[in-house]
Amino acid sequence: MDRVVAFGPGRVNLVGEHTDYNDGLCLAFAIDRGVTVTVERRPGETIEAVATDLGEEDHFPAAAPGPSEGWRAFVRGVVAELGASGVPVGGARIELHGDVPLGSGLSSSAALSTALCAALLGLAGRELPEDRRPIARLCSRVENAWVGAKTGLLDQMAVLCSAEGRALRLDCRDLTTELIPLELGAWRLAVADSGEQHENAASGYNDRRRECSQAAARLGVASLRDADAAAVEQLPPPWRQRARHVICDNARVDAAAAALRSGEIAALGPILDDAHRSLRDDFEISTPTVDRLAARLRSEGALGARIVGGGFGGSVLALFGPGTTLPDGCLAVTPSAQTRLLR
Ligand code: GLA
Repeated sequence: MDRVVAFGPGRVNLVGEHTDYNDGLCLAFAIDRGVTVTVERRPGETIEAVATDLGEEDHFPAAAPGPSEGWRAFVRGVVAELGASGVPVGGARIELHGDVPLGSGLSSSAALSTALCAALLGLAGRELPEDRRPIARLCSRVENAWVGAKTGLLDQMAVLCSAEGRALRLDCRDLTTELIPLELGAWRLAVADSGEQHENAASGYNDRRRECSQAAARLGVASLRDADAAAVEQLPPPWRQRARHVICDNARVDAAAAALRSGEIAALGPILDDAHRSLRDDFEISTPTVDRLAARLRSEGALGARIVGGGFGGSVLALFGPGTTLPDGCLAVTPSAQTRLLR
């Protein structure tokens, strides 16, 4: 094939935030917005990449993409990591177009990197492997080594392994997944963008990751997944609060998964509110603007609302009951299909 089009969805994380790099649990789903990548084979060994929404371009040698920043770092990193894993990538034109707002906490980055992987694999005559974990790890290396954000595997696994009408329970200790029906009926989940853009590499994200591994070291456990709740309460701040959030959010994932299994969508409301309090007060990744947005959504009918994604800005996820009009600025999100080739 000389021209391939792939789509990578954004994702919403229902609950389980900043748990992924602590060997913890997450409950996420892909959304119907995302990034579309078109790749066309070109003679020569140069890659021309165009981000149509931004009106920006990049050019680099396919065999040796040097470092760069922003969206260019993702593209170059995927090309380099695919090449290093034995997938031939030669001269090509790459065009990117997305409808997930950048830096809004809906993982435009995993949408981009996984769609580009699928497209470049397609150009090399290959499909995404059945076991998506190696591709998730490859895209995560891109984010860690090329972009400089010490993120975990939640986003890549969520967009690569989701399915329409399901939520994905991800156990980050061994990357096992379970698809659980997410039947919203007349209920709606919606996201609202705070307008405060975040960038994981530049925010306090890497600080939180460091604090979590320090907390684990103080507790003498390999990761906070194994932390004992009573021992955590003996830690000094900020480690006590960071570890407490991780333990409680893991428990919230199991509570939310149980609610979905028994079709009790209403139970998600208090879980979202608890998670927001925990992310605001214990994990300290919310901002006054995001807190005000969550409060506004609650006052306009949301039965629960919380900051989603890496934090320090981004979006709020809220639950609305049957018959409620979505407040201004809300975008309804439904569990949608994973990263795939379109043609
Ligand atoms: C970002 C990271 C993920 C995860 C979330 C927080 O989206 O990419 O790995 O840590 O933040 O849950």
